[in-house]
Amino acid sequence: MSARAPLKLALLISGRGSNMTAILRAALAQEIAAHPAIVISDRVSAAGLASARELGVAAAAWRGEARQGTFEEMLLATLEEVQPEAIALAGFMRILSPAVVTRYLGRMLNIHPSLLPAYRGLHTHARVLAAGDTEHGASVHFVIPELDAGPVILQSKVAVLPADTEAALAARVLATEHVIYPRVIDWLGTGRLVWRAGAPWLDGRRLETPIVEDFRAASVGG
Ligand code: GRF
Repeated sequence: MSARAPLKLALLISGRGSNMTAILRAALAQEIAAHPAIVISDRVSAAGLASARELGVAAAAWRGEARQGTFEEMLLATLEEVQPEAIALAGFMRILSPAVVTRYLGRMLNIHPSLLPAYRGLHTHARVLAAGDTEHGASVHFVIPELDAGPVILQSKVAVLPADTEAALAARVLATEHVIYPRVIDWLGTGRLVWRAGAPWLDGRRLETPIVEDFRAASVGG
């Protein structure tokens, strides 16, 4: 256990929020060194908002007419109020402006469902199947202004099976996301992971290549 206070975390979502839920549960159970201060969605209909509230975590989203300003203005005002130490994008589908990303550089993480740098962008599972790849996975990375291009910290690797559908493959990858994302947040919270001179460092060493956790023989999720 670390003596420092848990990392004050804001989570940004757009949809069901299963990664968010995995992070909130791990944090609330004190399995990871994070304190979820707020969940923010750019969609009022995001199912994850209710899941957050059920777990006792404040959740915010704004209807277009409810407040003045753009989503980013409301987001920045809320972050200014809450003062999180780190921000986790978890199924957050909006591209943030370089100004926002730069402001939180080294403090903002994302999870992307591919073995980056392969398959940036959308529909990764379908593209992996179409390409006939035998391996796939997910990547937790620091966010930089270029989309899905920030330094990767930890990846999960899964097998692509001959009978895989897009949904089956997505579910296999998602179960590993719920393992690796809380872990990276814990590394940040304990101070094992830091951002220094424009790069991630883990345990005092610059991460030149991502750490890869191989789930091909494992059974996760369910
Ligand atoms: C996940 O596959 C994540 O990698 C991607 O969007 C999906 C979000 O799922 N960025 P959920 O909302 O966390 O369930």
